[in-house]
Amino acid sequence: MRTKESAATHDKASHDRPALGGPQDLFYANSNIVPLPIIDRAEGIFMWDETGKDYIDACSGPVACNIGHGNPRVAAAMAAQARKLDFAYSRLSRHRPNMALTDRIAALAGPGYERVCLASGGSEAMEIAVKFLRQYVVATGAAQRRRIITCQPSYHGGTIATLAMSGDDALAPFLDGFAVVSERVPAPVSYRLPEGHTAESYAALCLDALEAKIDELGAENVLAFVIEPVGGVATGCVVPPGSYMQRTREICNRHGIYLVFDEILCGTGRTGRFLAAHHTPEAMPDIVVLAKGLGSGYAPLGAVLIPASMADHLAELTGFNFSHTYNANPITCATGMAVLDEYERLGLVAAAAERGAYLRGKLESLAAEVPMIGDIRGLGLLLAVELVADRETKTPLPGRFLPTEKIRIHALNNGLFLYSRRTAGGKYGDWFIVAPPLTITEDECDELIARLTAAFEDFEQDYRSF
Ligand SMILES: Cc1ncc(COP(=O)(O)O)c(C=O)c1O
Repeated sequence: MRTKESAATHDKASHDRPALGGPQDLFYANSNIVPLPIIDRAEGIFMWDETGKDYIDACSGPVACNIGHGNPRVAAAMAAQARKLDFAYSRLSRHRPNMALTDRIAALAGPGYERVCLASGGSEAMEIAVKFLRQYVVATGAAQRRRIITCQPSYHGGTIATLAMSGDDALAPFLDGFAVVSERVPAPVSYRLPEGHTAESYAALCLDALEAKIDELGAENVLAFVIEPVGGVATGCVVPPGSYMQRTREICNRHGIYLVFDEILCGTGRTGRFLAAHHTPEAMPDIVVLAKGLGSGYAPLGAVLIPASMADHLAELTGFNFSHTYNANPITCATGMAVLDEYERLGLVAAAAERGAYLRGKLESLAAEVPMIGDIRGLGLLLAVELVADRETKTPLPGRFLPTEKIRIHALNNGLFLYSRRTAGGKYGDWFIVAPPLTITEDECDELIARLTAAFEDFEQDYRSF
């Protein structure tokens, strides 16, 4: 059993640089002060480091490990597939795990998403989505449609093309003159609003900005509007208010622009529906992109959900020109199937809604005790906690205090992994994501809150002495 006294104190990151190799984090900035424990094993919502100290994975890694760690059924399915058929190239042969998985995903997504193009993760899937749309308009005589509109802030991936779609000012020097940067409209954030705005009035302003941007570019030149229907690592789980999605759909329809939902983080049940889009059935997008929870950390898997009308039409014209060696890898497909079997067996989509409501209630009770919590937001088991110096005025914590790093350090000391980020120099606030595996029980939620409460005690004390 973990006790605070026995916990190793994490107050200094180690930057040992071996002569050869080393862990991935050696590529990150040396100024990082958050230590990275060496994790040895994991089960359910728990992870253990090499010293035996346990941690609750309160963020499912980067909101990926939806079915929890160490699932023996998934491990068995992966091993069985590896023994039976490890690899078969999708341009040279067909295989059953591929067909079974795409059938299953299309059935879960519902009408309008009959074709499923698989990928090895989120960024690749996002690239496939825009590449598909671009090839589609070129093949159907609308080659002038090349502009993509995305939100500021937003995150759509780590490849050069998807970074260029991501609304993050810090990327400007890297992208300048190097990649084609998407057009930007403000994201419908809900907490740090311009003077005099409510979340609803600001969302209306964002939609006006979308219309204005389309007019400025010429609707006939716009290929797609790409949006995270529930925010993730860029906005801290922002849920657009009221009729934002319906109006977005209307605007895209009116101008003949494809609407793409990046559900890489918020899809696959995380928000309490299989697709986040299912919360607003009157505003279904043309294309949905999934990843993260689909492979749940067991295998790199992404999927692009496309209507048969478009995929089959393009196949008749030019065919969709894409090829990746690991496209529909049999072991990855079998893993995806085993993960979706676990979703069904354990009722994880419903659990996300139920446990999400429970955990949110607990976080709100904690907020009543902790004045440094400014906001709790999100949907299902995708929640974020905003950190502030003053709740009344929403004054952010001073950047010099390194609030998002400090909360992670105090969480680690208390046996908790948190995902926190300060984006755009704190312009969009300081927050951390609470998104544990969907398998979490109520008792485990209580334990998570107990550790978070202890982390906040240390965080507050640290700030008082700052
Ligand atoms: C909304 C969104 N899109 C795209 C990506 C990129 O996915 P991946 O890291 O699997 O390439 C992420 C990852 O965090 C994401 O949250």
